Amino acid sequence: MSFERGELIREGKSKQVFGVAGSDDKVILHYKDDATAFNGKKFGVVEDKARVNAAISWHLMQYVAKETGIRTHLIERLSDTDQLCEKVDIIMVEVVVRNIVAGSCARRFGREEGEVLPFPMIEWFYKSDPLDDPPMSDVHALTFGWAEQHELEYLRFAAAKVNKALCDFWDALGVDLVDFKIEFGRTPDGRILLADEISPDGCRLWEKGTRRKLDKDVFRRDLGDLGDTYRELYTRIFGNELGA
Ligand code: TMP
Ligand code: ASP
Repeated sequence: MSFERGELIREGKSKQVFGVAGSDDKVILHYKDDATAFNGKKFGVVEDKARVNAAISWHLMQYVAKETGIRTHLIERLSDTDQLCEKVDIIMVEVVVRNIVAGSCARRFGREEGEVLPFPMIEWFYKSDPLDDPPMSDVHALTFGWAEQHELEYLRFAAAKVNKALCDFWDALGVDLVDFKIEFGRTPDGRILLADEISPDGCRLWEKGTRRKLDKDVFRRDLGDLGDTYRELYTRIFGNELGA
């Protein structure tokens, strides 16, 4: 069966979401080469980013699903940059898991980047571009109706499992998983699925030993060419170089 792009439903900073002709319960996620940081204040186009992120996200989501039993929105790879997914209503709670202090955790709490946490820290951020994704706690999500208690409990449970699986994955490749952000969505029949993407855009990845950054901080902090970094990650994962 072939699936064709329907109307553009949503344009995000790094992906577009299209409807699917003749279906109301599926969408096509299209990855873009656009790179943004600090909620769009910094912008660039990075050659190959779409193909690398789509490939890595597909691989990591399948891996996580297999290792943990957590269900994802993925259905089928349609091309290097397009993925057929179940249509979900995204939960406005961005789930961040940290193993090592970095980024806003270092800034907000005056901690040294690189401090290894005694156990994984799970945090919520409100998914809102105009507000720059502010950090929040259960009470905000519950009071403002962004998630129900049982959903937050599932998000916490799932995030811990995803973290364990991803830490093992990156560990085997000589990389420390510092932190990452994931999103979940609700299906019309009440299931909660791991949605969006798991890619180096939303993770911090440090090479073991050197702590060299292998993620979007290369772009955020002007540390080098993000395309080179992402192609290197691709080769680390898949063993071969990204084709032309
Ligand atoms: P932070 O240190 O800026 O709070 O980010 C923690 C991790 O989550 C980092 O890997 C980047 C990722 N993240 C996103 O990708 N998008 C977001 O909107 C947020 C809040 C975090
Ligand atoms: N994800 C946000 C953006 O793309 C924030 C960041 O990555 O710095 O602008």
